[in-house]
Amino acid sequence: MEPEQTDNRVVNGVTSDKSAIAANVRQSSDDGTEQQPTRGTDVARARWTILRQVLKQKQVDSGKVPQVSVRRFSSFSLFSRSRVMTPDPDDPSEGQWVEYRSASSPQYSAFLRDNLGPIRVTEVLNSFDNTGNVCVWPSEEVMAHYCLKKRHMFRGLSVCELGGGMTCLAGLMIAVCADAREVILSDGNEKAIQNVRSVIERNRRAGLFTCTDVSSRVVRWDSESDVSALESCFDVVMCADCLFLDQYRGSLVDAVRRLLRPNGTALVFAPPRGETLAQFRGLAERAGFQVRQYLNYDQEVWDVHIGMQREGKDSYDENIHYPHLLTLTQGCDQTPLL
Ligand SMILES: C[S@@+](CC[C@H](N)C(=O)[O-])C[C@H]1O[C@@H](n2cnc3c(N)ncnc32)[C@H](O)[C@@H]1O
Repeated sequence: MEPEQTDNRVVNGVTSDKSAIAANVRQSSDDGTEQQPTRGTDVARARWTILRQVLKQKQVDSGKVPQVSVRRFSSFSLFSRSRVMTPDPDDPSEGQWVEYRSASSPQYSAFLRDNLGPIRVTEVLNSFDNTGNVCVWPSEEVMAHYCLKKRHMFRGLSVCELGGGMTCLAGLMIAVCADAREVILSDGNEKAIQNVRSVIERNRRAGLFTCTDVSSRVVRWDSESDVSALESCFDVVMCADCLFLDQYRGSLVDAVRRLLRPNGTALVFAPPRGETLAQFRGLAERAGFQVRQYLNYDQEVWDVHIGMQREGKDSYDENIHYPHLLTLTQGCDQTPLL
């Protein structure tokens, strides 16, 4: 195994924060509203120029969004990431696999494919939200770490991850460590779920799951058929960094409400991203959820956060990098399962 650096890495053309904008380019143009970056380094400005070109459907390079490497915060370093060197003869995509191992619970690891190559302009323009196909976002990493630490709480429960992106790392870790009854990994993007399907297969073959019922599926929060197929099925529904799209916040609240059993709990990890976290919280409360919000929910994550704040805003901005934890329960006298 060769350790790979996770900091400062190229993230398929855009850094985490702006990749959200890039990957939702189609949505933005559908809305007719161009989102602008809130802070401007030269690199960010250059990147936005590229994205604006995409918005205006100009030709960019050879049809790929060019790769730009910048020094940006991309990970809380809660998992080591090592390239898998042992070949699997059953798998033609050998060489793309990495092993994520928990730093705090090193007995738990999983195989992932977390780099699907550059996002093509045509993909950005023609497919549903690609933000989950560019990187494992810090909120997902933190949620995975949190679930590993709280693994005893998931024993015997049915768990669904929504908007898990190309790895669904947190749900995957629950499948690895928690003796859950059932784990469903989902996202609204078909390409992300194709990857998750391979990830499940790979980890199943390696005998890494403690849960025997692990599956993946496309679940669009705004799709009546997707949501009704899973109505009232889960003790735990969770998601990471899924609150920034104005268009889908309401349907996410509604999907969470419908997927949960009456005494279920939702775990939501997300950075403030302006007002978007607060807006989600407001919608959840209006939908009848009791919402609790935690800032310091894990000492290791908090220590990295405090350390990074000292580095200054050029590399770390808590507004886009530090996930808060919300727990959602139904009924005001109910305590969260977790
Ligand atoms: C920023 S990404 C986060 C991915 C992953 N949770 C992570 O943090 O690495 C947001 C994810 O939400 C998914 N998403 C956005 N809108 C959705 C919708 N209406 N239904 C289902 N998934 C959606 C996207 O496909 C994407 O994977």
